[in-house]
Amino acid sequence: MDTPVLIASITLTAVVALIPAVSDEGSVDLSVVIPAYNETGRLPSMLEVTLTHLNSPAIKSSRTYEILIVDDGSKDDTSALALKLASHYPQSELRVVTLEKNLGKGGAVRHGMLHSRGHRLLMVDADGASRFEDLEHLWMSLDKLAPKNEPAVAVGSRAHLVKTEAVVKRSLLRNILMYGLHTILRIVGVGDIRDTQCGFKLFTRRAAQKIFPAQHLSTWIFDVELLLLAKQLSIPIIEVPVEWHEVAGSKLNIAKDSLQMLRDLLVLRGNQLVGRWKAVPL
Ligand SMILES: *[C@@H]1O[C@H](CO)[C@@H](O)[C@H](O)[C@H]1NC(C)=O
Repeated sequence: MDTPVLIASITLTAVVALIPAVSDEGSVDLSVVIPAYNETGRLPSMLEVTLTHLNSPAIKSSRTYEILIVDDGSKDDTSALALKLASHYPQSELRVVTLEKNLGKGGAVRHGMLHSRGHRLLMVDADGASRFEDLEHLWMSLDKLAPKNEPAVAVGSRAHLVKTEAVVKRSLLRNILMYGLHTILRIVGVGDIRDTQCGFKLFTRRAAQKIFPAQHLSTWIFDVELLLLAKQLSIPIIEVPVEWHEVAGSKLNIAKDSLQMLRDLLVLRGNQLVGRWKAVPL
């Protein structure tokens, strides 16, 4: 009766081997991880811009890539749409992962990162608010900071846009909350990073291998935890100015999500102070 067990275990190994893990060696130059919740409206144009850039002759000849769309348990047809879009770009390595349950943006990003194959891994919002071409600025910063792809993080920053139209146009409430958030971030220990929340961050694989397995928060404030983990692990972080424009359809519910952010920051700080959430250097 040994044989069936053996067959089952071989099958399982084969299946597991098909799913990339961040702990493996990287096999493409870049992974683009796009968390998507109810994004049928904004994903198509964002994806088109992304692919146009990555497939432009200069970039395509020097860099291989994969794109991972992580559908965070959407209630609309995000996965079906993403699969349809993928079929429009048969030359591109595009994968769609559908999470059965909504984890929150941080959970979707973490899932994508843990199953990526890139030597460098980009997280980018599905709304297209960042100028995707600015990836090249992050890329060059990492070339300098980590020429051999040592652990390092380049984070897009909108801090230089403060006082420009893009920010003034944000509601007063949003600006007050941003100010409050910054005060708290100083207390938490990432106050020297001027923009923690920009959804455009590039990690070397070795940084991702250390940071994402240790990530606990899956809600909006997960960016702060990622940066805090990087600091604890002595992974260098560079802030790189990027262009950005507000896109309609934000999923942020200011009142509810601000309270949750505050709660999560306290949970994060508390767990770190008592040493429960400690990043373990590899
Ligand atoms: C997601 O989409 C579903 C179905 O269209 C809708 O009922 C729900 O309110 C949406 N959720 C958010 C947060 O936009």
